[in-house]
Amino acid sequence: MVTTRATAEDRPDRADRSAVRTLLRLWPYVRPVRVRLFTAAFVAVVASCTSLVIPLVLKWMVDGPVADRDPAGVWLGALYLLLLGLAEALLFGLRRLLVARPLAGVEAGMRADLYRHLQRLPVAFHDRWASGQLLSRGTTDLMLLRMFLAFPLTFLLVNGVTILVGVIIMLLQDWTLGLVILIPAVPVMVTCVIFEKRYAAVARRAQDQVGDLTTVVEESVLGIRIIKGFGRHRSQALAFRELSRTLRGTELRKARLLATIWGVIVTLPEVAIGAALVLGAVQVADGELSAGTLVAFLSTALALRWPVDSIGFLLAMSQEAATATERYFEVMDAEPEGREVSTVKEDGEDLGLRFHGVRFRYPDAPADSPPVLDRVDLHIRPGESMALVGATGSGKTTLTALVPRLHEVTSGHITLDGADIAAMPREQLRSLVAVAFEEPTLFSASVADNVLMGTADGAGEPELERALAVAQADFAHALPHGTETQVGEQGLSLSGGQRQRLALARAVVGRPRFLVLDDPLSALDVHTEAAVEAALRDVLAETTALIVAHRPSTVLLADRVALLSDGRIAAVGTHHELLRSNAEYAHLMAGTEEADR
Ligand SMILES: Nc1ncnc2c1ncn2[C@@H]1O[C@H](COP(=O)(O)OP(=O)(O)OP(=O)(O)O)[C@@H](O)[C@H]1O
Ligand SMILES: [Mg+2]
Repeated sequence: MVTTRATAEDRPDRADRSAVRTLLRLWPYVRPVRVRLFTAAFVAVVASCTSLVIPLVLKWMVDGPVADRDPAGVWLGALYLLLLGLAEALLFGLRRLLVARPLAGVEAGMRADLYRHLQRLPVAFHDRWASGQLLSRGTTDLMLLRMFLAFPLTFLLVNGVTILVGVIIMLLQDWTLGLVILIPAVPVMVTCVIFEKRYAAVARRAQDQVGDLTTVVEESVLGIRIIKGFGRHRSQALAFRELSRTLRGTELRKARLLATIWGVIVTLPEVAIGAALVLGAVQVADGELSAGTLVAFLSTALALRWPVDSIGFLLAMSQEAATATERYFEVMDAEPEGREVSTVKEDGEDLGLRFHGVRFRYPDAPADSPPVLDRVDLHIRPGESMALVGATGSGKTTLTALVPRLHEVTSGHITLDGADIAAMPREQLRSLVAVAFEEPTLFSASVADNVLMGTADGAGEPELERALAVAQADFAHALPHGTETQVGEQGLSLSGGQRQRLALARAVVGRPRFLVLDDPLSALDVHTEAAVEAALRDVLAETTALIVAHRPSTVLLADRVALLSDGRIAAVGTHHELLRSNAEYAHLMAGTEEADR
């Protein structure tokens, strides 16, 4: 299955971006826990430097008690070493204790922000983005960030300080040997810089590919019926295998890069230590250096091996974290719904729902294609219900989606009782307008919760009963736990018609002033449809409604009919007027006419 929406390939390679600058964007989230984080880093620096005292104790032991053959002194030295080791372990434990809880909090906070932001992003954004990409950003990427804050961030600092202190100690012990040890520093640094650039690009690709893979998994789970029904599991599995093979290749490239840098970082210092050992041994033999100093020098060098070796993968983890940050903020930087125009055009005369020269083109449509809606003018008077009829693909669903502002009009405006919806606070708009779409969506919650989400808090049993009655959804009472039965993805599966009726109940439960229904009865049998229509009449009598209809029986619910054709309202009138006067309308209604009567 090929996803046409944003995938890994679409995105520009931005290896030239600065990892540090990207990571700095995390500061607002880290700020609240900064004291803990700095304390933890300080504790870790102390712990790490404690380990550098050990070589000095060794030197004292070798040059003192060992040379003097003093067993008591050796035991004392061993006790010191034990205590130092214990102190180091305790301090590192304390560090963990300090950061674990606050960082879990940071991760949770970022995830909550991302979720909140996703809810506020316009439908157009979600049309454009593959859900797997969003999913992987909310999970894998945030986990990478928490790990970065817990580990590489601290340890790049800790290891840096440890290496610095260690090098100073070594230079103080014997500066010629110290310089020998320092020789590989320059090539190691150059390697790190080159490595970082390459690794950044590959890391980005890998994380994007994880997002694409997530999308495929998600689509195959949601579309499992289609896949099985058409016997497509083989091709689906092939697509999955293809993507995971690509991801595997990218991960292997990452591993190869890491292996290279690790090779350089481990080998060069090791060679330098060997050289220092030979040089030092010669000096000791010549009596220019005490054996204790050489022991101290070499054990300091060995103590620095881990801090130096780990730099490779600490940098790698930091790069991945920078990529994760970038991916996180790509979503967070997307503009949420906004555009509250300040010019409220209140017009007392202009009651009802009115479209004024509305033009609409989908943001992702090709630039040269004609707009879906082109100068739509339509006035639905207060209390009136208007049916909207048009050929399939003529833009009916699009038109209905403009009223609750799921999409923003390209030009023109829509007014509710004279007030421009673009200038209206969203909460107000959504309390005025209720909708039911072609595709009835139920959430993993009880029937009652699903229906009552169509109303302000506080609505109760009577409203629920009334709405279920209007939608002829009494079947809900016969479910295993009545209206408390869980439905949606994690609950009981309902039939298409049952879901449609619950969606209709959701639309009418809040007694909205304006009701927008997109073909609300399409999945019902003729008798149920007639029953819903009979009950719906009472509701329609008290609201202003726009109802997309395909069948004459639904059209007859409405006071008037508007015909949508070629992106504009071609005719408005009663069903019978239009049947007589408009050939296209007569054509659309023909055929279904006989069956419905
Ligand atoms: N999210 C979208 N992005 C881009 N184009 C879209 C989008 N949704 C719909 N379209 C296009 O807009 C046009 C109108 O679609 P719409 O769903 O409004 O038709 P409709 O009248 O509701 O059809 P039907 O009677 O089959 O439900 C179609 O050509 C469709 O391809
Ligand atoms: Mg439609």
